[in-house]
Amino acid sequence: MYGAPSGDFTLHDDQVRLCRLDEIPDGAARGFRLRDAAGREVRIFAVRRGATAYAYLNRCPHRGTPLDWTPDHLLDAEGRHLVCATHGALFRVEDGVCLAGPCVGDQLVPVPLALVDGVLHAPAELED
Ligand code: FES
Repeated sequence: MYGAPSGDFTLHDDQVRLCRLDEIPDGAARGFRLRDAAGREVRIFAVRRGATAYAYLNRCPHRGTPLDWTPDHLLDAEGRHLVCATHGALFRVEDGVCLAGPCVGDQLVPVPLALVDGVLHAPAELED
């Protein structure tokens, strides 16, 4: 499922609830804090595009910093691309590929989402 948009999947015990899809305004993003297998915090975010959403680790492939300066502000002024606040790299929402900036061609790490009864779920433990 990596790299794929969310869809209607079977919910497993190893998935955690993020939020209802409609709690993310269409075209906007929202950050979440999960845990890896060692219990360390892992930051992710989800971007809504209509009836689907895309999620990635909140870590720029250039320097490893979070993309957002302030919580949930992850998109450029037009709301078209994800933007890294540190050096301004732009990433395509649908696959996380960097289109402009110092890490062109690199990719954000996708997080598989499941959409079950209108609620977004992510793996309970992410590999960091
Ligand atoms: S850290 Fe993201 S573009 Fe440099």
